[in-house]
Amino acid sequence: MRFKIVIAALLAVAVVTDVGVTLSTRRAEAVEGKVPAADPGAAIAQLQARVNELEGRVPDQAIVMTHVAYHFTNLWFAARQHNWPLADFYLGEVRKDLKWAVRVRPVREGPAGEVNVKGIAEAVDNTEFSKLAQAIQERRSEAFVRAYDETLAACSACHQAIGKPYLRPQRPTSPEVHVIQFDQAAKRAR
Ligand code: HEC
Repeated sequence: MRFKIVIAALLAVAVVTDVGVTLSTRRAEAVEGKVPAADPGAAIAQLQARVNELEGRVPDQAIVMTHVAYHFTNLWFAARQHNWPLADFYLGEVRKDLKWAVRVRPVREGPAGEVNVKGIAEAVDNTEFSKLAQAIQERRSEAFVRAYDETLAACSACHQAIGKPYLRPQRPTSPEVHVIQFDQAAKRAR
């Protein structure tokens, strides 16, 4: 997924370079009197069209949020099985995904005006996600469950702020992935 961003970035660079090269070639040709000087208005319109096209290829915020939900669900099952290295991995993915979601749309129009999605996400990262990280690091199940429930409340709070109060995450009943073993390697080896 991350690599889609890289591709989008590369495409953007390619477009800019492409337009830059076209413009400088045109300018050179214009100097030589081959073609009339490029119309800057037309060049901007062309660039805008390419930007719009590229934006259409980038996943929207809701799609990215399904990744947050996916990893956050798996996190629950890893921790319930005391598989702390796996839990640590999934929490890392959740944190990265939420940052990605913010980059897609840092500010949104909510029912009470403009919502600073970036600010809310940073607050969640600094408090709820940090508590989860600490519980995982200290391998404390009860602290983990408490922090998980607090995070669920924070998920809902952000959804409420952006005007989607019906998106209320809950403790999951089954993992999102079935091909990964959730129990600990050490337990299996016995
Ligand atoms: C900083 C704000 C914020 C936080 C925190 C947040 N979300 Fe979201 N979430 C959003 C936004 C914005 C959308 C809606 C995007 C849209 O519809 O354009 C959304 C949508 C969703 C969706 C619906 C996606 C779909 O299209 O089916 C799910 C599922 C979801 N979030 C899960 C979670 C979970 C789980 C958490 C907590 C770990 C969480 N969210 C925390 C902002 C947030």
